[in-house]
Amino acid sequence: MSDLHVVVLAAGKGTRMKSQLPKILHKISGLTIIERVARTAAALQPASITMVVGHGADEVKRSLAKRTRLQFVTQEQQLGTGHALLQTRPLLEGKSGTVVLLSGDAPLLSVDSVKALLATHQEAAAAATVITATFPRPFGYGRIVRTSGKISKIVEERDTTTAQKAITEINSGIYAFDLAPLFAALDSIGTSNKQGEYYLPDLIAIYRKQKRAVATWTVQRADEIRGINSRAELGEVTTMVRQQKNEELMAAGVTLIDPATTYVDADVVVGPDTVIYPCVFLEGNTKIGGACEIHSGARIVNSTIGDRVCVRNHTVVTDSTVEAGAFLGPFAHIRPGSKVGEDVHIGNFVELKKTDMGKGAKANHLAYLGDATIGPKTNVGAGTITCNYDGEKKHQTVIGAGVFVGSNSTLVAPVTLADGSYIAAGSAVTTDVPAGALAIGRSRQENKEGWVASRKQKKPDASSQ
Ligand code: UD1
Ligand code: CA
Repeated sequence: MSDLHVVVLAAGKGTRMKSQLPKILHKISGLTIIERVARTAAALQPASITMVVGHGADEVKRSLAKRTRLQFVTQEQQLGTGHALLQTRPLLEGKSGTVVLLSGDAPLLSVDSVKALLATHQEAAAAATVITATFPRPFGYGRIVRTSGKISKIVEERDTTTAQKAITEINSGIYAFDLAPLFAALDSIGTSNKQGEYYLPDLIAIYRKQKRAVATWTVQRADEIRGINSRAELGEVTTMVRQQKNEELMAAGVTLIDPATTYVDADVVVGPDTVIYPCVFLEGNTKIGGACEIHSGARIVNSTIGDRVCVRNHTVVTDSTVEAGAFLGPFAHIRPGSKVGEDVHIGNFVELKKTDMGKGAKANHLAYLGDATIGPKTNVGAGTITCNYDGEKKHQTVIGAGVFVGSNSTLVAPVTLADGSYIAAGSAVTTDVPAGALAIGRSRQENKEGWVASRKQKKPDASSQ
């Protein structure tokens, strides 16, 4: 929309969060509060988006660095929401059109609701239009005061009379403003209230006195305009967001055994017929294929999982790719930069780091495979370790196709085990093994005949003492 400008107020400290981190950088299902608001703003395709930052400005800007269309203005001192909007004057004054004001701490607002606000605003040819909601427990919010049905002013909680406290229609803190009269009117907001702040909602009474049209639009799902001011509210909103994501997944054909304990971040994609067991965490930029099983306790972060993969209990996968038909876990750890090929079996207590396992390869128990390439159909025995670190540098282990690595082998990198080679159990492999060769890297076993009996004769029996 060519004459639509979005302003996001995000300079406040969020004292009630009791946090070192600016309030709006707290995350809800993997996205910061402010990123969620920025997405809503961008979805409106406005001519400009301006964010008023202050507390933790640098951190906030850094977190939004990828959003190149955002422009920032700094509110050095947080003197109130009216003062905050005034900071956009150098960027917006003299422009025509509409400003939509979003609150940086209200991440649930839908794009459809903003569009409905704009429709009401235009229809009423209003100077200001307020989104309101009805809250049975309105404590803490500004109340909408009406005279003969029309909005006459907004009163903040701390400034309410006893009668006004009972009003259940509240101010969402989200508005549409006609740009033409805006900045002159903002100049006339004063600070004669309990907090001594410049209150943006005072604009309503100012416009009414000037006989300008002021409209309201009431959001149906009141939860949409919930602001986050405390950890308790962060928890409540997180539950709502999570529930919505889980409903979307189920609608798309994913089975959640227990939606109440399924934790899926905003951008995660899951294919149909995948079954997710209780207490599973799917985080960041993760994609899960169809017909997978993800068992309890699994945590998958920024990873791509193919179709029909079975992730057994308590397996952690980070920044890795797992191809179709693979089995992982229980208790497997797939660390960043790994690629688990088709039909690979990774069993219990196996750790991979920057390791590529070819199709059908197996490491079924107790292994550390780091900085390694493992060919298709290779079998890695229990207790195998790639010694990839010499105390200073990391080195590669290259294992070909169809190799058999006997149990408890120590592969000292850099080392190559060529195709079809065979490593005897318990070997310390320090030099390359040619294709098809048997490598035995351990001292030879010696049997001393009759040794047990001869020792018993030398020592008196302990039990007879
Ligand atoms: C505000 C409204 C209240 C409404 C509520 C809805 C005012 C005075 N009150 O109250 O009527 O019911 O939102 O959630 O506006 N901010 C700045 N600079 C400042 C002050 C605030 O950028 O100097 C930002 C905050 O970071 C926040 C937003 O403005 O994103 C709202 O401020 P906040 O202090 O949370 O206002 P509320 O007390 O919630
Ligand atoms: Ca607030």
